[in-house]
Amino acid sequence: MLLQHSTWQEIDAFLKRSKAIVIPIGSTEQHGPTGLLGTDYLCPELIAHEAQKSADLLVAPPFLVGMAQHHLGFAGTISLRPSTMVASIFDWVHSLARHGFERIYFLNGHGGNVATINAAFSEIYASASFAARSSGFALMQRNWWELAGVRELAEAQFPVGHGTHATASEVAVTQAAYPIKHASYEPKIAPTGPIYDAIDFRRRYPDGRMGSDPAQATPEKGRALIELAAASLVKDFAAFAG
Ligand code: NI
Repeated sequence: MLLQHSTWQEIDAFLKRSKAIVIPIGSTEQHGPTGLLGTDYLCPELIAHEAQKSADLLVAPPFLVGMAQHHLGFAGTISLRPSTMVASIFDWVHSLARHGFERIYFLNGHGGNVATINAAFSEIYASASFAARSSGFALMQRNWWELAGVRELAEAQFPVGHGTHATASEVAVTQAAYPIKHASYEPKIAPTGPIYDAIDFRRRYPDGRMGSDPAQATPEKGRALIELAAASLVKDFAAFAG
């Protein structure tokens, strides 16, 4: 069940049988010469949408802009500052909590978001703790590639050149749902290294990839990743929600 395709009465009725919700969260940032700018929110969105086809699971609209300052040297990237993202997550959570949601699960698609999502959770819990009241809800985040079995499948599909940004697996997941982009690039496997600011990032990683060869991606591999991740999400979410 998708929140954005539901009426308020349907959400009201859902809350009588469950108080849990999944929020896909990611980023809008460059993903190399063949990866979509939306890759990091599209992956958790596709997985969550697949999961709700076979389980009574409510999925929120995606939180689709995150921590992407280091990608601002590439056209189309949109970034929040950490303070803005913390404030936005604070408002999303308190909006949902006001209606009675007690278990809020963020399915994350961008490694750069992890620290800021955790900071938002601390900010949210602190506001309850300082006011000497219970928050009334529990929060968690899970990276989609950490769902049971997903890392093993990606390693089997892409033993070499999986990479850490514009990865072969995330590009494959988007290819399962959206048109494939073709481009030639050099070197075949991109360099690896640290992440600092946007100018430094563009200098180190000229086409935007880090350690990856996304030409190995196929829609079939992406479909297999989505199906496995969706099945694992249903179990992981049930353990949290129950
Ligand atoms: Ni990504």
